[in-house]
Amino acid sequence: MAEDMPDADVIGAHMMARLDALAAHSEPGEGLTRRFASAEHRAASALILGWMSDAGMAAHMDAVGNCVGRYEGLEPGLPALIMGSHQDSVRNGGRYDGMLGIVTPIACVAALNKRTERLPFAIEVLAFGDEEGVRFQSSLLGSRALAGAFDFEALERVDEDGITMRGAMQGFGLDPEAIGGLARKPEHVLAFVEVHIEQGPVLEAEGLALGVVTGISGADRLEVTLGGMAGHAGTVPMGQRSDALAAAAECILAVEAQAAAGDNTVGTVGMIAARPGAVNVIPGWVSFSVDLRSPDDAVRQGLVDNLRREFTAICARRGVTVEIENSHEGEAAACAPWLIEQISAAVAEEGITPRRLPSGAGHDGMAMDAITDIGMLFVRCQGGISHNPDEAITAADAGTAARALLRFIRAFQPPGETST
Ligand code: HGY
Ligand code: MN
Ligand code: MN
Repeated sequence: MAEDMPDADVIGAHMMARLDALAAHSEPGEGLTRRFASAEHRAASALILGWMSDAGMAAHMDAVGNCVGRYEGLEPGLPALIMGSHQDSVRNGGRYDGMLGIVTPIACVAALNKRTERLPFAIEVLAFGDEEGVRFQSSLLGSRALAGAFDFEALERVDEDGITMRGAMQGFGLDPEAIGGLARKPEHVLAFVEVHIEQGPVLEAEGLALGVVTGISGADRLEVTLGGMAGHAGTVPMGQRSDALAAAAECILAVEAQAAAGDNTVGTVGMIAARPGAVNVIPGWVSFSVDLRSPDDAVRQGLVDNLRREFTAICARRGVTVEIENSHEGEAAACAPWLIEQISAAVAEEGITPRRLPSGAGHDGMAMDAITDIGMLFVRCQGGISHNPDEAITAADAGTAARALLRFIRAFQPPGETST
């Protein structure tokens, strides 16, 4: 059967309209804010489940808040190629991070369904409910559930309103007790492939619409709490203070210096809170986050250890206590060579040089890597900007990504299988 290919501009425009429709479901404020188990999550999921059904998939929301669409192969119950990404966002983020990786495979399945094309494998599209972890400082909740690696202790984490993750899930109509049953058997999964914006400048700088990911950097998230002594800003002599915020400032500069000196490492302090938070009171308590990344797990671990030591020394010198909790650790995940090859072949068929590059950003593939091989297709984003309302892609690039993914799907061959 001749294989038709959708027109990049037409399918791209269709995908951009869907991305805009999803972006409408956001908390107030600049850009997109859509947190796990929120009203916005529910509204976005209703759109996604409807699009999955329209594309010929059996669609449902699972016990952990993922939207799951399944398109059967030549016969029911075949092992599946899983594709997808996350529907949640960071605060005041962009509308393409995650969502592009949901609407693209849905568009591809719709193209197959339109021609009643069935393949020698099933296809599943996942819209993971929580990858960014904004509400509960978690991460990869939905993909970890599928990988059988869900952290059940996280159910007791509370959000800024004091609501536990368990309570939020129950209020959302989810079933925390059923999460264990979501774990996929490796033999039922052929691969996990995610389309995602690059969130970096490389593809744009080289004039490439698409790129092929070689691996995902590992990440540590720390929650650091410093205990000093609140006091009168006007009367406590400088040499007699236990100023938690001044100690935090020194720790934060240590993060910047050590990450900058490291081998391909990055370090970020994105959140900080000081109490009591009055202009004329020496802060007695500070909490801040630390995000540390490296493509090399040993290098990242060394960075974490060095910073733990340096924070301890800084605080000892300043008469401040320090507690460091590791709230998330995700190991680096290599993309499978056979998937890199097949994704590269699809990109080349689109007339694009298949540029291979690593991902400094984390993705659900870090969790899915536990049960199956992973691959990623990157899409150029303007200025490399992401986690920012100005995140932007073009309809043409979105359409080209859909065409490349459709080519990949049609040519997909798990290792060891010969072409029929
Ligand atoms: O933090 C990350 O890299 C991803 O956006 N969760
Ligand atoms: Mn993100
Ligand atoms: Mn993302």
